[in-house]
Amino acid sequence: MAQSKKNKILVTSALPYANGSLHCGHMVEYIQTDIFVRFLRLIGEDIIYVCADDAHGAPIEIKAAELGIKPEQLIADVYKEHVQDFKDFLVSFDNYYTTNSGENKHYSDLIFEKLKKKNLIYTKDIEVTYCENCKRTLPDRYVKGKCPKCGAADQYGDVCENCNAVYKTIDLVDPYCVVCKNKPVRKTSKHYFFKLSKFSKKLESWLNKNKNLQPEIKNFVFNWIKNGLEDWNISRDGPYFGFKIPGEEDKYYYVWLDAPIGYIASTDNYCKKHNLKTEDYWQNKDTRIYHFIGKDIIYFHFLFWPAMLIGAGFELPYDIVVHGFLTVNGEKMSKSRGTFFTAREFLQSHNAEHLRFYYSSLLSKTMSDIDLNFEDFRKKINNELAANIGNFCYRVLSFLNKNFDGQVKDIDQNKQLISEINKKIKEIEKNYYELNFIEAVKNILHISSFGNKYFQANEPWKLIKEDKEKVHKILGLSVNIVKNLSILIQPILPNFSSQLQKQLNLENLKWDDIDFKLKNHKIGKEEILITKMEEKEEIKKEFPLNLKVAKIIAIREHPNADKLYVMQIDLGNERRQLVAGIRQHYSLDELKNKKIIVVTNLKHAKLRGIESQGMLLAGVTENEETIGLLTVDKSEAGDKVYLDGYENLTEELSFEEFLKLDIRAKNGHAIFEGKELKTDKDIVRVEKVRDGA
Ligand code: 2FM
Ligand code: ZN
Repeated sequence: MAQSKKNKILVTSALPYANGSLHCGHMVEYIQTDIFVRFLRLIGEDIIYVCADDAHGAPIEIKAAELGIKPEQLIADVYKEHVQDFKDFLVSFDNYYTTNSGENKHYSDLIFEKLKKKNLIYTKDIEVTYCENCKRTLPDRYVKGKCPKCGAADQYGDVCENCNAVYKTIDLVDPYCVVCKNKPVRKTSKHYFFKLSKFSKKLESWLNKNKNLQPEIKNFVFNWIKNGLEDWNISRDGPYFGFKIPGEEDKYYYVWLDAPIGYIASTDNYCKKHNLKTEDYWQNKDTRIYHFIGKDIIYFHFLFWPAMLIGAGFELPYDIVVHGFLTVNGEKMSKSRGTFFTAREFLQSHNAEHLRFYYSSLLSKTMSDIDLNFEDFRKKINNELAANIGNFCYRVLSFLNKNFDGQVKDIDQNKQLISEINKKIKEIEKNYYELNFIEAVKNILHISSFGNKYFQANEPWKLIKEDKEKVHKILGLSVNIVKNLSILIQPILPNFSSQLQKQLNLENLKWDDIDFKLKNHKIGKEEILITKMEEKEEIKKEFPLNLKVAKIIAIREHPNADKLYVMQIDLGNERRQLVAGIRQHYSLDELKNKKIIVVTNLKHAKLRGIESQGMLLAGVTENEETIGLLTVDKSEAGDKVYLDGYENLTEELSFEEFLKLDIRAKNGHAIFEGKELKTDKDIVRVEKVRDGA
């Protein structure tokens, strides 16, 4: 894009679902958007960046039910976590809201009514999947079965993860209810449809006219249109966590109707707080609206959303920037392979700005996937960020402080160097506007290489003995390069930039401050800002259980419960009492002196009147008939049980939290996230159960 300056700019990132933690894949988009936004602010554009949690829909309801809490509680907890993660990754929203808000209800109803008035919404009876046992219609995520296209088992009711086919819940072969595993029936139900089919022409003309959209994406959107657009079902039967459709008792907007409207609602919420008008953003031809999204939600943003906007009389996006997925060490992120990192896990052993730098060195305006390769990551941080930029800034400032008391006087008028750098600066400005961060990073590195070479070639540490004045000028030019670097890199590394400017005794520099005019100025104290990464700094993940080997030293039957035992256990440095329901599976004799695995950080509980100060771990077969204890042979009471690459947590865990953890038996070993539970001397065994939960 060209500069706009006088036009308003509104930037959004996709709204993350409020049903779980952000991971390193999510951060690609927020970092990409944030760099763009910070650049626009720096250069003086009139820009706001809004986003929100996507708080409605079946996955949120399912997750809350799993946790035994209300959806409202879940979305409030997740909201807090997301806000903190964004803050720590330096993602600088002007407004971060939720789709479960008054503003969003208002705009959803408004748009729905407008579309209805224009005859763009109609109702029709359709067949839905209904579970008679749970007494509910089963939305996509509540029903599983075989894919009607490729036959893959255990696919959800909307799209097949194996062959990507899209279908309706009723199309599933051998469907079953996710909650109770019963076979659902078909039922008819009235649903609301949006006439997407009416918009083919208008969407085509928008795509044709808009010169910003990525051509490769336009192409396959054109193809979808050519193959015929189907009307879109925008309602869901209750129970559903979302907004009720006006005039209906038990029907709700489908989450994908109100989610993008959340962009408007968050803008509105911002405008109220800043005395601005929402119409100036969404109903003003001169405003430039940018959406950043991943390639998995193109259909929604290139078809449904613009059609809704056109239908309801809002402006269309100026650009929709689509990025690819993140792979880790060349593979799809996967929990079982240990290549799935939440944003928080990453931060526990790494620096957010390092990831920002690394991602930006790979990002441009394309849908290509990017890879987080830890070897490459370390090399880039060490060789480019630390050895090139960090080193140049530090050596210049320290030399100036040491030899000239930090005083910048005059500037060496090296026309050739200055003009080469100025050329790069122009390119970097263009790179940022065009979201070509790969080139922006390369060009910034070129400038600091020029600086390093210039400094090196002049050998100021020698020259100072002959011509101190000349050296002072060389340092003058060098400091100006450092200052310019601090501005050029600010969108990518905002903290580094502000710390560097503090050392320069300058503050809050803007793009317009890029020049070679800093003289008669005293800088502050220099400090090393970027340290090299060690060879093997792997991400330690958190293992929420504090597990230990325990030896059963005494055991008796529970006086008030015929399935329970009460046992005294030795944990090395302490003794505890456990109550466990294994009486049908183990005799008293079998248990005496046995070494078992115990969760020691579980909230203590009373079972039929007797306190249990922890819980033992056992495996169970699929048919739930056989239970076998987790045990070890060589280890001693009190030995730590852990997973490689994980840190045991000692914080107290509730029973509900414990239930969420998916530890399974595989080949007689206990597996969590693809790794075996072990001690320093043993791999933990599961007795009697080879494979199970
Ligand atoms: O795919 C997702 O994660 C959605 N929550 C994105 C919504 S973006 C917007 F349309 F609300
Ligand atoms: Zn059911």
